[in-house]
This record gives sequence, C-alpha cells and structure tokens, in this order.
Amino acid sequence: MEFLIPTRTARPADDPIFALNAEANARKAKGESVINATVGALLDDDGKLAVLPSVIEALREVPPVQAAGYAPLAGPQAFLQAVIGDLLGGSPLAEHAIAVATPGGTGALRHAVANFLEPGQALLTSSFYWGPYKTIADENDRKVATFPMFQWNGDEGELDLEAFDRSLNEVAQKQGRALVFLNDPCQNPTGYSMRPAQWRAVRESVEAVAAKVPTTLLVDAAYFLYGAGDPRAFLQHLQPLMGKAALAFAWSASKSFTQYGARVGALLVVDPEVTRRKRTLDALAYSCRGTWSNCNHLGMLAITKMLSDASLRAKVDSERAGLTALLGGRVKAFNAAAKGQGLRYPRYDGGFFTTVVAPSGVDVASAAAKLRERGVFVVPQGDGLRIALCSVAERDVPRLVEEVVAALR
Ligand SMILES: Cc1ncc(COP(=O)(O)O)c(C=O)c1O
Repeated sequence: MEFLIPTRTARPADDPIFALNAEANARKAKGESVINATVGALLDDDGKLAVLPSVIEALREVPPVQAAGYAPLAGPQAFLQAVIGDLLGGSPLAEHAIAVATPGGTGALRHAVANFLEPGQALLTSSFYWGPYKTIADENDRKVATFPMFQWNGDEGELDLEAFDRSLNEVAQKQGRALVFLNDPCQNPTGYSMRPAQWRAVRESVEAVAAKVPTTLLVDAAYFLYGAGDPRAFLQHLQPLMGKAALAFAWSASKSFTQYGARVGALLVVDPEVTRRKRTLDALAYSCRGTWSNCNHLGMLAITKMLSDASLRAKVDSERAGLTALLGGRVKAFNAAAKGQGLRYPRYDGGFFTTVVAPSGVDVASAAAKLRERGVFVVPQGDGLRIALCSVAERDVPRLVEEVVAALR
C-alpha cells in the first residue's frame, strides 16, 4: 500500500547539483585534481566559502536572549524597513512598498507563486532559469511556462524581447492573470544582465498586458549587488508600472551578505493603492504563518544592523567589493579564454554563473559526463552547461574552458 498521495510518489530526492558537488568533493578529498564549477556559492581561490568578516561580527554581537525569542510573523519592522531601503532606497517605489520576511529569496518566490497565481496556473520565466522555480511551482500545485531567452547573433546572445512579449500575452490570455519571474542582474544560470533599453521594453510589454489582466512582475534580485554599475538603476524603468501591475522583488541576504545558511530574505511588493496594498500585506503575513511561521531572528537582527548602521554598511560594502573583484577576475579570464573558441554563451559581464549552450546535435548530459571523467564538474541544464565561476579559482579557468570546448566538440 502507498501512503503518499499520487503526485508525491516519484519526487527526485536530491537536488542534482548537490549530488554533483558531493561527488566532486569526494574525488578531490582522494587527491584528484578537480575543478568543481557546480557550487552556487562564492568560494575563495583556496576553495573555502568566502565570507564577509563584518557580517560574522554582527552575528556574534546580537544579544543571544533577543535572538532566542520569536521574531514577529511578518518580520521585525526595522528589518523590513532596512530591506526596503536597501533595494528601493532612493527610488519613489520605496514609499509604496510593503515587505514580509522570508527564509531567503526562495521563501519570497514561494509566497509570490502562492499569492499571485491560482492553483494550476503557470508563472512565466526565461527558458534558462534557476531549477527551484519549477520545484517551488510543483510544490504549490502551480506550473512554469518559459519564453526562449536569447536571440543569437553569432555566438552572442541577447534577451529575446519579442519572444517575451509573445509568451506573456499568450499566458495572460490563457490564464486571465500573469506572474513573471525575471532574475536580474547576473541571472542564474546564464550570468546575463539586462541593459536599460531591455528593461524599458520589458516594462512596456508588462504594462500592455497589465491593462487587460492582473499582472505581477517579480524581479528576483538574489545577485543584485554583484552586477556591473549602479545596482538600483533598473528601478527607474519600472516606475511607470506602479499601480498598473504589482511590482514584486525577491530580496536575499544569501549572496549580498554571504549568509547562505542564515536563511534571511524578504518579499517586497510595491503598490500605491493603499487598501489593496494592505490586503497584499495581510495575505503575505498569513502565508508566513501558514508555512514557516517566522524566520531566523538572529540573522534578521544582524542584517538589520548591517543595513542601518552607516559605518557598518560602508564596511560591508567595501568587503563585498573585494569579492566582486575576485569574481570579476574569473569572469574576465573566462571571456579571454573563450574568445575565438566558438563557445556560444550570452553576454557575460559579471555574476556567479555562465551557461555555455551546446551546439545542435551535442547532448549536454553526455558532455557533462565526459567532463566529469576528466575531473571537471559542471551542471547540465536544458541545452547548456552551467558553469559556476563563483567556485572556480581564476588560475583554473583556462583549463576549465579548454575542457568545455573539447567536451562540446
Ligand atoms: C536565481 C536565484 N534566486 C533565488 C535564490 C535564492 O536563494 P536563497 O533562498 O538562499 O536566498 C537563488 C539561490 O541560489 C538563486 O540562484
């Protein structure tokens, strides 16, 4: 007799990325020369987790008795205000934003799926996307629809705005509602970051659809402090959507503060209509109670302090700049080694990952298996290989590229 309900009887137990990482580490421990480009966390050149010392310090300084108590269900007010300020500060969007605390950005994505889509409906995202979007949708009896992410000009990929517009219209017409997930900047898994004109085009598409059906645009900002240039510049392009579409943001401390394990995050929603905004806040707070109750108090207290104290903030910003430079060196090395090698990957100017698209006829799973035999671990995804440069030392990048070129031949 099966005790599980039918939809739960064939769930894959382990995230395949975690399984690959475990194998890479086991082989490395046995002395093999392994390049492990699977881990979605920033490692230093010795393969150790890169952490920001000032954040560790702030965590240590939180009074234990304060941390031991429950946090408010929707998150401490000071934390929520600090997060709104961090992401939207300086933009008129900030004064119309509400937020609830979530365990990482993952929790924020979960709440968006559960509150802005009906059961059975699909969120729309790009064809290359972070795998857990599908897991979160499945877990909540929702689906994922995708638009072809890139238009290729030779080996250079840029966002396919026509495909986005077409797919958004289709989904909206079919469902009578739309929820879009865009992960930008430094998209996982491609490393792609949109340019201003692309943001404007996305906004125009969303605006047109939002005039017909309830539409939510969620920006998954997990990597927003690792992009090139002003991380908040994109907000100006979204301003005209205020009040027309729901504007949501998944904020996470995992990468910005290198506190992946602290599970600190938030879902922000911008809406200038006061009564509707209050209803949204109530619904999200209810979701908090109905899922994890409340989040990690210690983590939220420490991050609040980092964000609210000007000198601590300056300190963490400068520590993070060191990590961005470390990552930037690897990105530059990757682009230099890949130049002229015929590798097809989207414009990559920063971020934890890039994805090399396999030429037609090449099976990515067997290419990844070939690489694994040679001690190079990457993640086969869709029709590409995801390469986590965040976990590869700059000195290993030329060998990595050489092996990828050979495996895709
Ligand atoms: C695209 C993307 N979104 C969201 C997240 C959320 O991470 P967390 O739940 O740790 O904040 C991640 C983490 O890898 C990610 O890659």
